[in-house]
Amino acid sequence: MIDCDMKRVIFATSNEGKMKEIRLLLADLDVEVLSLKEAGISVSIVEDGETFEENALIKVRTVGMEKEAQGAVILADDSGLEVDYLNKAPGVYSARYMGEDTSYTIKNQAIIEQLSKAVGEERSARFVCVIAALLPDGRTLTTRATIEGQIGYREEGSNGFGYDPILYLPEYHTTTAGLSMEEKNRISHRGKALRQMKER
Ligand code: IMP
Repeated sequence: MIDCDMKRVIFATSNEGKMKEIRLLLADLDVEVLSLKEAGISVSIVEDGETFEENALIKVRTVGMEKEAQGAVILADDSGLEVDYLNKAPGVYSARYMGEDTSYTIKNQAIIEQLSKAVGEERSARFVCVIAALLPDGRTLTTRATIEGQIGYREEGSNGFGYDPILYLPEYHTTTAGLSMEEKNRISHRGKALRQMKER
């Protein structure tokens, strides 16, 4: 547990969906949670790390150098889909896989096709999320969590985003796109990693 008087938290993202999640999660703490925009920070972040941890730390350190960030706790996440049959691809390249502007319908279909010969356990896959924190004294922390599933034989579900329609969760008989946002947050990689960071 970190003993501190930290009232301002900046979450290094421009994604409103992620901001909603983190605000909900930190609602019971006496802290002000700001997006980059709300903190008045506009900075370009070069995510050239080889692991989720490296990229999440790059995000918090880049933002932490801005004068508007001084004295605040900076949080960031980095996440992606790992498919075991594809040697854990797309992994840290999940957003850029097949090109940033390629639709997820095409990306998802391409993954399903690459697994056309894979059956049962060979289809195992997971979403990974790493949350990094940069504290005002310069210390950094990271937490990591996953949600395990299997690549489905077809897309299913209309909630969520990105690769959600192809990560099938056998125990829920649907994909992460078939869960409500509340259900997904309760069991997702991001929800779990954020809760771990909140504890720290
Ligand atoms: P970043 O963490 O914002 O750099 O992007 C990670 C990428 O991984 C996203 O653009 C999605 O393609 C994928 N991803 C991460 N989490 C999820 C999720 O919960 N559902 C679907 N796709 C996800």
